[in-house]
Amino acid sequence: MEIINSLPQQTGRTFIVTGANTGLGYETTMMLAKKGAKVIMACRNMSKANAAKANILKEVPKADLDVLEIDLSSLKSVRSFVKAYQAKYDKLDVLVNNAGVMMPPYSKTEDGFELQFGANYLGHFLLTGLLLQTITKTPNSRIVTLSSLVHKNGKINFADLQSEKKYSASEAYAKSKLACLMFTRELQRRLEKAGHQQTISTASHPGIATTELSRHMPKLVYNVLRYTIAPFLTHAPIEGAKPTMLAAIGEAKGGDYFGPTGFNEFKGKPGKATSTPLSNDEAIANQLWEVSEKLVGLNYL
Ligand SMILES: NC(=O)c1ccc[n+]([C@@H]2O[C@H](COP(=O)([O-])OP(=O)(O)OC[C@H]3O[C@@H](n4cnc5c(N)ncnc54)[C@H](OP(=O)(O)O)[C@@H]3O)[C@@H](O)[C@H]2O)c1
Repeated sequence: MEIINSLPQQTGRTFIVTGANTGLGYETTMMLAKKGAKVIMACRNMSKANAAKANILKEVPKADLDVLEIDLSSLKSVRSFVKAYQAKYDKLDVLVNNAGVMMPPYSKTEDGFELQFGANYLGHFLLTGLLLQTITKTPNSRIVTLSSLVHKNGKINFADLQSEKKYSASEAYAKSKLACLMFTRELQRRLEKAGHQQTISTASHPGIATTELSRHMPKLVYNVLRYTIAPFLTHAPIEGAKPTMLAAIGEAKGGDYFGPTGFNEFKGKPGKATSTPLSNDEAIANQLWEVSEKLVGLNYL
């Protein structure tokens, strides 16, 4: 039987999915809606978000969806989102830190962070911190963060976290995704130390899924890949979202990391994923956490 079918119904449970309007976030929202969950679609573009919501409602007429605005590249916007969320809801079963951008030309967020490090990692670091009280008071709650196969190429260079001295789009993306995985595990360690037994932190990666993530790739490179090796190495967004479903509502313990289990974890059935020793390095993760607290202006745990 398809593993997703065996996951429990989620009626009465509330989820936030960032970047829910397309790609993996959209498919995660669709699958959660089919399980009866309430899903808050946290998106930066309200017309795209409302169109995505309408599409899900066509397939799942009873879907319980709400759309709230968030731009993860703006600390101010993350704070406004949390205020709006907390004005409407007083619990949160699962936060899915999904939104992301890959390999854009060099740019900085309004807070002065390199865009990928800022939106993929620091925005979610702040979002999690601001929602933590709401999450930890909800029984059996989880925080799920999206990493990537490319975390394996990532390095955390504290002397140039914002890639100001040298920018490689792919290295900065790998760094942001390594930071997401280190954050997952450091968050778990800190939740345990603080005695928050009701909440766990898990992570997932989709392998390689055919989403809009490649939007910043040069067209030529994209087309060569698309018509040559991509069909053998990639899978559909719905398949890529399944590891996130295991991380969010499957059997898991804190710090678990899920991904596809086929060749090189590029695609295949969802299950446990592999990660590098660096992604488990406690000293670097602790230092990254402390630096992140200063950068976003919030100390937590
Ligand atoms: N696809 C893959 O093969 C792959 C592999 C490894 C990891 N991942 C990870 O999976 C996650 C989802 O990516 P995807 O493949 O589904 O890509 P996608 O189709 O491009 O979707 C990305 C989502 O993130 C949103 N987003 C981007 N920047 C944002 C910001 N500053 N504030 C709020 N939302 C923002 C996008 O909103 P807009 O539509 O408004 O731009 C979109 O909803 C990412 O974290 C990515 O790193 C994907």
